[in-house]
Amino acid sequence: MSTLSVIYALLFYAATALLVVGLAYRIKTYATTPTPLKIPTMPAPLTKSGAAFRVFKEVAFFESLFKSNRWIWIFAVLFHAGLALALSRHVRYFQADVWLVIKLIQPFGIYGGMAMVAGLLGLWARRVVQERIRYISGPSDHLMLALLVLIGISGLMMKYVAHTDIVQVKVFFLGLMRFNIQELPADGPLMVHLAAVATLMIVFPFSKLLHVPGVFFSPARNQVDDARDKRHLAAWAAPMDADREA
Ligand code: HEM
Repeated sequence: MSTLSVIYALLFYAATALLVVGLAYRIKTYATTPTPLKIPTMPAPLTKSGAAFRVFKEVAFFESLFKSNRWIWIFAVLFHAGLALALSRHVRYFQADVWLVIKLIQPFGIYGGMAMVAGLLGLWARRVVQERIRYISGPSDHLMLALLVLIGISGLMMKYVAHTDIVQVKVFFLGLMRFNIQELPADGPLMVHLAAVATLMIVFPFSKLLHVPGVFFSPARNQVDDARDKRHLAAWAAPMDADREA
């Protein structure tokens, strides 16, 4: 067993643990943060199912971005839809018997990879070219984009420039899932790809990428506009309210 395979195996165990624990902690914090006021962005839905549909439209189509900035919306959709396709293509590395839908998605996954990188470059260009946006962009904004571009380009390099042994990559990851470390091919683009992926997993719970779970908890989007029908009371305020009533 090569030292490199062991190092990458330990790296992926650590990255997975940090990602799972970190995300669970963040989601718990979001779910238990009091929302003392009714603040849905108007016009807002009047029913719970209406509010759920509004969140769905935001997650699936980036509705508010569509209304506010068409250029960012185009690049954001290119990136996120491309990412979804590329990631679906990757499911085969983690399944001994690959599902039919994952087999069918393979050729589209490649276009997904290209769309993902194109979208990222568009979003990045905006931060560099537009002076107002450049001024409010911090190092982490650039670093997250750089990391995702690095993952995309090293992935596409394995497809078009320097192939790696994808069967052995699969053996390695199936092995990891069974706590049985196997050999990982020591190819440059694969090493870069996987090191960048592990870095992404580690920084995810501390980064702006938390908008992924966060969008579901935005009171401006998920609240029902029923303040005129029933009194809104945050859960933590209920005991105080009961005392006052008594
Ligand atoms: C442990 C997780 C991962 C493994 C084992 C992995 C492995 C690979 C391999 C072997 C390829 C080359 C495929 C080929 O030659 O046909 C590839 C391509 C690619 N990877 Fe990954 N990757 C991982 C995670 C990711 C993540 C998280 C992203 C995106 C954020 C990503 C984005 C891409 C892209 C865009 C391509 C090129 C298009 C494609 O072949 O699907 N990968 N990856």
